[in-house]
Amino acid sequence: MPHLSESLLIGIERRQFVESDVNKFAKIIDALFALISNAFPRADARGQLRRACAALASPEVVSNAYVHWLLTGAHREALPLALRPEHYARIRSNLHRLEWRCQRLEACLATLPSRSIDCFNLSNVFEYLGEPACTAVLRDVARVGRPGARVLYWNLFVERERPASLAALLAPRSRAARDLHARSGAFFYRRLVIEQVTA
Ligand SMILES: C[S@@+](CC[C@H](N)C(=O)[O-])C[C@H]1O[C@@H](n2cnc3c(N)ncnc32)[C@H](O)[C@@H]1O
Repeated sequence: MPHLSESLLIGIERRQFVESDVNKFAKIIDALFALISNAFPRADARGQLRRACAALASPEVVSNAYVHWLLTGAHREALPLALRPEHYARIRSNLHRLEWRCQRLEACLATLPSRSIDCFNLSNVFEYLGEPACTAVLRDVARVGRPGARVLYWNLFVERERPASLAALLAPRSRAARDLHARSGAFFYRRLVIEQVTA
């Protein structure tokens, strides 16, 4: 898509997107998606493509840090939260609270006391774990989490969420997850999952 990418880059560079441009992109992207998706035999790859097309056609493309990075190799003014200068002082003042552990999540959880953690950002670690291992980790997360603790993780290619067997320990927070996913601009993830440790 050399022409389309070039147009998008110029738009991002000059921050000159107007609604008509976005509508024009949306139409081009829809047509391209229809064309290209036939070449993707795997449904998950087609899903990735669909989400990328939707992100590129959205008015928020101008401020999407991921799109800027992927298309231009730089964030420029579209900075993710952690890289915004107004947050430096707060991050710096909390650095002493960081504790680095180089070990598997399972091993780390096993060392933590019950009811000791308020929130878990597990990135997309479950992408690398089979279902039984995922269930075991989530069970231990529920043990280590304080009542009300939030557990957050991404689904990329595999679908992961707490299984029915853990329903009494972890409650889904699907609406909050959908809202945050939309606001994050992280279109390449299939889904954001938020679950809450029950009382
Ligand atoms: C795609 S990376 C995400 C990196 C980073 N957390 C982020 O958000 O950008 C997923 C990471 O999970 C790590 N990982 C996979 N299985 C793990 C496990 N059982 N315990 C801890 N980390 C694991 C992988 O080594 C990989 O670095």
